[in-house]
Amino acid sequence: MNRERKSILYDKERIDRRVKELAKIISRDYEGRDLLLVGILKGAFIFLADLSRSLSIPHSLDFARLASYGSQAQSSGIIEIRKDIEMPLEGKDVILVEDIVDTGTTLAFFQKKILQRNPRSVKICALIDKKERREVECNAHYVGFSVERGFIVGYGLDFNEKYRYLPDIYIIDESTL
Ligand code: IMP
Ligand code: MG
Repeated sequence: MNRERKSILYDKERIDRRVKELAKIISRDYEGRDLLLVGILKGAFIFLADLSRSLSIPHSLDFARLASYGSQAQSSGIIEIRKDIEMPLEGKDVILVEDIVDTGTTLAFFQKKILQRNPRSVKICALIDKKERREVECNAHYVGFSVERGFIVGYGLDFNEKYRYLPDIYIIDESTL
């Protein structure tokens, strides 16, 4: 049973337009480069699928699964790599594709790990940036939408593993959490 009340924040047409805009910018920035998109599971799986298909340049794909101990809404700062990138990163131009950058703890940790494998570059593409909540320095270079506050679900994003399948992005009414 879903107790949470929620309302649409970005509908699928708006998301589609924004993903295509990002893809156009990334295609221009990475023309002629050895681009690798790394989707951070599970939240980024739909965003990655749409972004990848909208790019006009060749690229390869891989995945990583990171987990932070703690509850859904509050990350603890201790990050575990549950599934690592499998491709060699040497000389590659890597873009980490993430659903949400919130406190920044998860991606700052992973970006540091990746830099030890000598890629040519590492940048971050986030569907949603909650900049106001940043606790650890973590710069998202490509951002779909900036959100100040609230808990977001849909389009890959979950609340306790619910709502990932929804085509639109919703904000949960916090009084119902
Ligand atoms: P950070 O380490 O605090 O930046 O945590 C980022 C991760 O927390 C994201 O990859 C999401 O999995 C999760 N997260 C943070 N805010 C939300 C939200 O509003 N909806 C769904 N997941 C969220
Ligand atoms: Mg998550």
